[in-house]
Amino acid sequence: MKVIEPCTLAIFGAGGNLSRRKLIPALFRLELAKRLPEGMVILGCDITAQSREDWLNLVSEILREIHAKDLDESALQRFCQRVHYCAISPGDEAAYAHLSELIQGDNGFPQKVVFYMAVRPADYPHIVEKLGEAKLLVEKNGWRRVVIEKPFGYDLLSAQSLQASLYRHLNEPQIYRIDHYLGKGTVQNVMVFRFANLLLEPLWNNHYIDHVQITHSETLGIEGRADYYEGAGALRDMIQSHLLQLLALVAMEPPVSLTAEHLRDEKVKVLKAIRPITQNSVHAHAFRGQYASGAIDGKPVPGYLEEKNVAPESTTETYAAVKLFIDNWRWAGVPFYLRTGKRMAENSSAICIRFKNPPQDLLRKARQGPAQPNWIMLGIQPNDCLKMEMQVKVPGLDMHTRTMSLDATYRKHSDEDFDAYSGLLLDVMLGDHSLFLRIDEVEAAWRVVDPIIKVWAMEHDFINTYAAGSWGPRGTYRLFDRDDQFWRHSLNPDGADLQAY
Ligand code: BG6
Repeated sequence: MKVIEPCTLAIFGAGGNLSRRKLIPALFRLELAKRLPEGMVILGCDITAQSREDWLNLVSEILREIHAKDLDESALQRFCQRVHYCAISPGDEAAYAHLSELIQGDNGFPQKVVFYMAVRPADYPHIVEKLGEAKLLVEKNGWRRVVIEKPFGYDLLSAQSLQASLYRHLNEPQIYRIDHYLGKGTVQNVMVFRFANLLLEPLWNNHYIDHVQITHSETLGIEGRADYYEGAGALRDMIQSHLLQLLALVAMEPPVSLTAEHLRDEKVKVLKAIRPITQNSVHAHAFRGQYASGAIDGKPVPGYLEEKNVAPESTTETYAAVKLFIDNWRWAGVPFYLRTGKRMAENSSAICIRFKNPPQDLLRKARQGPAQPNWIMLGIQPNDCLKMEMQVKVPGLDMHTRTMSLDATYRKHSDEDFDAYSGLLLDVMLGDHSLFLRIDEVEAAWRVVDPIIKVWAMEHDFINTYAAGSWGPRGTYRLFDRDDQFWRHSLNPDGADLQAY
């Protein structure tokens, strides 16, 4: 276990959604696991003027709600001792002077500092500028690191100008562009699965793989985040970042080593090899939709247009699906289908890899219905799992076949269970960039989605809808090349049955 040096973690936007839902709970889990270094300070920064006591009450409330049944009071006490608060409003010069005094003055705050931007993306440049002016980013007495949440920009150009503004005060090694998907257990397991098991490598190419599906579906709606989501939409929110990262891990060549630069070099190569989608071909490669009212778990839920702060005629997509080709030797001709949606039928994230049918259909008389191909499936959430589907003979006198699922689910009850953010926060404190994005990765990902964004932005008077609680808009079948291909909705053996739409 690597030793983490005491540091100060300053969270900008500490009172916001991300901090309350993910960062504070993840930090507390690290506290419970005794992984936070002694002397580490967690400094909440936000616009609300409140005392440290008020902030501590709020933090305790968040944690009590999550650990309603099993709160470890002594861990909570330890945690609260680290927690401080500093009120900062955007234009307030004096507040940054106060922050500088708090961190760099004689208050016992460690001089190795992480600044975490859990604010609206539009606020990143301003905050970094102010931190720079206050000399808080100068690595004189200890390292200074800045964590930037996704989306990094809203298209290629804006990502490049955000980058330029960061470089005014930061060097590349100081910047941690986070994609929390890379902190998820199964996502990291993609690398172990591929590179620690020799038997897969000969099959991992266009000779044997028919197509790949990468899905992230959620039953949740936009959860009061209209301010952000209206300007983002599902393509930017999920596909440009999380799902393209998954694609890169599935498709990349084995890296020279698992060090940050080698790993990221290979991911960039794959992203750069994705065939550019021309504006004329956007409709053949991408499909969008927006949820209308419907039911989730039997309860009625409103449509997107009825959500608070959503424009009445908004055509922001809450569902996006794309078909991509990777023009390199390994993957030529293999479609990669990526889809994501809010208010879908189930919470499910998975990578499903469908193999080709055997060259000769010797068993066609032994089965009812079409040939069933092999699948390899990596479930990311809600349960991390690994499954392989094979065809076997049904026991008995007749020669009948059926699909059998080999379940190599690797999580045991006794295994530790950490949220993606816990591991990534530790990595930032350790200075490990492996699971963070390099700027060329971000740029390559924007190049993939930019043409789609442009065309969808021009078509602002119509969007397909889907009922909340369904598997998305009708019509996405047109992304598939053949009738025997369609989205796989479940990782169980019957999940490969093609659905009506
Ligand atoms: C975030 C998106 O990055 O990822 C959200 O902004 C999405 O819209 C979330 O809900 C999904 O991640 P997770 O880990 O909560 O499934």
